[in-house]
Amino acid sequence: SPTIVHAGEGIRQVVRDAQRDGRRVGVVPTMGALHQGHLSLVDAAHQQCDVVIVTVFVNPTQFAPHEDYERYPRDLDSDAAKLSQHGCDYVFAPAVEEMYPQGFETSINVGSVALPYEGERRPTHFSGVATVVLKLLTLVPANAAFFGQKDYQQTLVVGQMIRDLNVPTKLVVCPTVRESDGLAMSSRNAYLDDDQRRRATALHASMQLARQMVDHGERQVATLQQAIESLLAEVGGIDLDYIAFVRAGTVEPVESIRGPTVVLMAARVGQTRLIDNMQIG
Ligand code: PAJ
Repeated sequence: SPTIVHAGEGIRQVVRDAQRDGRRVGVVPTMGALHQGHLSLVDAAHQQCDVVIVTVFVNPTQFAPHEDYERYPRDLDSDAAKLSQHGCDYVFAPAVEEMYPQGFETSINVGSVALPYEGERRPTHFSGVATVVLKLLTLVPANAAFFGQKDYQQTLVVGQMIRDLNVPTKLVVCPTVRESDGLAMSSRNAYLDDDQRRRATALHASMQLARQMVDHGERQVATLQQAIESLLAEVGGIDLDYIAFVRAGTVEPVESIRGPTVVLMAARVGQTRLIDNMQIG
């Protein structure tokens, strides 16, 4: 099983030693509570790199005060056990005081990609993400960092930060891993009761429907959006936050499907907020 490292200087030395010996280092940043989605990123890192480091840190600065920071699931031993089957060499699990000591004041603001959609509903979220990812990539200056398409806007935020700040780590985005009924895997799915869990599959089903309509020639976003909303209303128990159709690789909304497009959605099922997205067109 992987070696667990808590100290930033310790993990930095691991990366230095590996790279001095000509080995490629891959890093997978996570907040723990690992599932197959996370493990698929670790598998990708293991395929492309010689040394794989998974970071496990529930980052307080990306949660708003009313959000689930306190009750977010934490189980480092179980996470390390899961990782032992996936070629992970090190787990970097810093303490909050190591990442944010007394007097910490800096934050990274990436600009326009962080503003709409998730950024509008969670105004401090992406600044917290960009700041912690920059810190993690400074402590673990890997050759490549692996992120999931599940958090589409997060991949754009991290990509912008890496480009703008000359971070020498390559961003690799990996496909969303889903349960057999289509629900995107998420640590927050554990909050759903059986009834909510069944209703939650409608997020994916509604995007599939939109994709099928596009495959059959529908081009109007308004029509696709209506179809998604009707399906969700029919299932019920889903409090839609937003649906957006954006040009793939951006947060620019489109009104008709003319090229690669991503449907983004966020909804509350009970108290649990879920996000998902799918490429169409
Ligand atoms: P977390 O939610 O733990 O996710 C860690 C990584 O796993 C992210 O890149 C996320 O997109 C990816 N991931 C989650 N569910 C996935 C799924 N079903 N399929 C594929 N990949 C999936 O995202 C974060 O943590 C944090 O914001 C972090 C980047 C670690 C910064 O704190």
